[in-house]
Amino acid sequence: RPRYTGLIAKYLDRLPISDDARILGLGEGNTPLIQLTRIPAELGRDVDLYVKFEGLNPTGSFKDRGMTMAVTKAVEQGAKAIICASTGNTSASAAAYAARAGISCFVLIPDGKIAMGKLAQAIMHGAQVLQIRGNFDAGMRLVKELAEHAPLTIVNSINPYRLQGQKTAAFEIIEELERAPDYHCLPVGNAGNITAHWIGYSECAGRTGDEQLTAACAFCGGQCRYASALVERRPRMVGYQASGSAPFLRGGPVAEPETVATAIRIGDPQSWDYAQAVREESGGWFDELSDEEILQAQRMLADHEGVFCEPASATSVAGAMRDIRSGRIPEGSTVVCTLTGHGLKDPDVASAQAGDAVQTVDADYQAVREAILKRL
Ligand code: F0G
Repeated sequence: RPRYTGLIAKYLDRLPISDDARILGLGEGNTPLIQLTRIPAELGRDVDLYVKFEGLNPTGSFKDRGMTMAVTKAVEQGAKAIICASTGNTSASAAAYAARAGISCFVLIPDGKIAMGKLAQAIMHGAQVLQIRGNFDAGMRLVKELAEHAPLTIVNSINPYRLQGQKTAAFEIIEELERAPDYHCLPVGNAGNITAHWIGYSECAGRTGDEQLTAACAFCGGQCRYASALVERRPRMVGYQASGSAPFLRGGPVAEPETVATAIRIGDPQSWDYAQAVREESGGWFDELSDEEILQAQRMLADHEGVFCEPASATSVAGAMRDIRSGRIPEGSTVVCTLTGHGLKDPDVASAQAGDAVQTVDADYQAVREAILKRL
């Protein structure tokens, strides 16, 4: 068996890439699909509930799947510099792959609104970080304008190679379950990832020809050679947003998006039309969750299941728990929730939830003993 070196090498024949390309990879993909046990038991519902832990990618988020493709193609096409707007994870990932490629990386981030771990990554990987006095949507507008006037390759998810890389998560899930799940739940910001998953599932079901999404798969035009039916059905795709940043629930852009889940603090999603098509074609839905529900799900995953994801990621599980409890996701279903990023990305939001978990005691046997006995 060949050594696993990353998703491009593994899925070479399913990606728009030449056999002799210089692959820029960090061993991304191949993330665990973890079955939850205590959460379904607590819900009292008979469902097979899995999380696909994308936080275990090399820079700690699903962005690496798209970035290995985007940067490999950019370098192949002669790019010397890449640029992105980001709520944090894209910038961390872009910076890492640019470092590996030996090219420059510029990232526009909302001043004071990205998690500390993500900023640290962009700095360490040598990106030029521009904190803008504005939000992600403003950054995205600027990036598009800048790339028109300078030799900069945009590596946001409007770069079609990003979605191509990210679609491989669906391949992995199908390989592991030997079928598609009944429901696939994701947090939605720009809606690139939900679109990428749908492309992946569709390709495995030999359904690349769906009109609206054929454009997203600009490479196969519905003629992929892997359109041989590997699975019969595709899942219903369910997208969850934070209430303060829920343009899909409001029916249009949100001017001042807010949420504790800064990764999805986005008011004007770039993949709006694709996401609507995904919902319609898959028979899924969008819903919204309060910050409180999101943080509660994040804590539950960490302290019931041993899985520490960042707040935005927990949105998928928060939504799935609600819909499983209500029966909207019926008993007997197989459900996959994507956990998009690692909990260590955002230590501030985590430690702010310490409650009485952290106490300071004297370095003294009796004092420590007493503190333990009080809690046993
Ligand atoms: N979860 C996390 C942890 C994210 O970082 C993002 C997006 C999403 C979910 C939403 O994914 O945009 O494809 O719907 N983060 C981008 C960034 C915007 O700049 O890192 P989407």
